[in-house]
Amino acid sequence: MTARDDVWFLDRFSQSWENLALCAALAERGLRGRIVDWDDLAMSGGLAGAVRDGQPVAAPRVAVVKSRVITRRSAGDLALIYDELEALEEAGTRISNPVAAIRRCRNKLRQAALLARAGLPVPETRSVSSQDDIQACMKDWGEVVLKPIWGHASLDVVRMRPGGRGIEEGTVLGIREEIASWHLLEHHKTLCAQPFVPNPARDLRVVVIGSTIAAADYHVSTSPDGAVRHFLYPLKVERAPISPGLEEIVLGAVVALGLDSAVIDLVESPSGPVIIEVNEGLTVWRTVEGTEHDRTPHGFTALVTDQLEALAATTASSSVPAPKRIGSETGRPDAVSMRSTS
Ligand SMILES: Nc1ncnc2c1ncn2[C@@H]1O[C@H](COP(=O)(O)OP(=O)(O)O)[C@@H](O)[C@H]1O
Ligand SMILES: [Mg+2]
Repeated sequence: MTARDDVWFLDRFSQSWENLALCAALAERGLRGRIVDWDDLAMSGGLAGAVRDGQPVAAPRVAVVKSRVITRRSAGDLALIYDELEALEEAGTRISNPVAAIRRCRNKLRQAALLARAGLPVPETRSVSSQDDIQACMKDWGEVVLKPIWGHASLDVVRMRPGGRGIEEGTVLGIREEIASWHLLEHHKTLCAQPFVPNPARDLRVVVIGSTIAAADYHVSTSPDGAVRHFLYPLKVERAPISPGLEEIVLGAVVALGLDSAVIDLVESPSGPVIIEVNEGLTVWRTVEGTEHDRTPHGFTALVTDQLEALAATTASSSVPAPKRIGSETGRPDAVSMRSTS
């Protein structure tokens, strides 16, 4: 059997400062990290854990899924990406974040439902697949925010009010609102709708690694309409205080979704912080490490390395684990032999 790498960083396009820093920090602890481009990886159809650069290789002890693996995909590829990640888990890799957690987090409807059931503050969230659905939301809430269920980077996030210009009798959609919502629905089929949560034109962004709050900053809008993500008006970053209530919310969200690490966006509603989105995984920290925004004891890189080392310790180091019989967890005979008798 080939030796297993300790940690793979699954990514696309670039090696990234963070991946390189983590490989160097792991090496100092005697662990081997490797940056693997998603396009160089294929699923194994046999005993090997995976196929990398065309060669069968052992599955690593831990694999970190960087967000670009999921977000920079072609339309229709999502199911296969999840299959490929689950196949690595089946080969004995501890994926971070776990694939089930990535899935429940990346779908904004599922995420909102799970957070609400955990008693955490989230805006009311509905699935809309027609203009009638959108109008029903507007009648109930007034101003709404529409967004793609699997969206990111504020792409196609649209805020609109009922009663726009040129409204037709019997509707609440103005001319522009009708056109924009038609195209959004045509493209995405189903969208997520929420009431617009009034806030002081800033997001509160909190980074959680394990059970540590690694950063908490305001993303302050400089745009006249208060939008935080705006191409013409870049946001300003300011350090934010962490109240006990905020700490409880963000750590509760990470537990509710089963995540190892997350970047959580909140807005400050009149009744307190509301979670707008939990982004699983970590974004760049090269601009934060060692600055006043870094709240970790020894830097982001060291804290993430601690976490990876702990995760690696939960898996075997030497070789590929023995293949697991399907159904063995429940003590049943394996599924293949059961099927062959029917
Ligand atoms: N319901 C809402 N009320 C107020 N602001 C919102 C709401 N939903 C989204 N926003 C604003 O839009 C931004 C992008 O929304 P988000 O749900 O995080 O989408 P994405 O996944 O594309 O980042 C948020 O950071 C926040 O500033
Ligand atoms: Mg967001």
